[in-house]
Amino acid sequence: TYVVTDACIRCKYMDCVEVCPVDCFYEGENMLVINPSECIDCGVCEPECPAEAILPDTENGLEKWLELNRVYSESWPNITQKTDVPADADEMKGVEGKFEKFFS
Ligand code: SF4
Ligand code: F3S
Repeated sequence: TYVVTDACIRCKYMDCVEVCPVDCFYEGENMLVINPSECIDCGVCEPECPAEAILPDTENGLEKWLELNRVYSESWPNITQKTDVPADADEMKGVEGKFEKFFS
């Protein structure tokens, strides 16, 4: 599966949802997550993300993010279409420590 990581927080560009063939993205207030049991591992979302927030779970150190994607995709609503991007998305791109400050 692929997972959304902290680089998405407060950026939320939503280009990923437009390309996912199985509509497995779920929306929180500040970021999206992928449902790992629905993701078919096609990989098309990874290069679409301007924040480089999407990674394959085969990369090291992503256990925490895989678990967060799994847990929150169970309760957040499904999202299949891009809507308004946060006004300060570009300023938030690459900012460190977003998980501690803004995760929701
Ligand atoms: Fe969707 Fe493919 Fe990305 Fe999985 S890897 S979330 S199926 S676009
Ligand atoms: Fe987030 Fe990137 Fe999608 S910033 S909403 S994972 S395009």
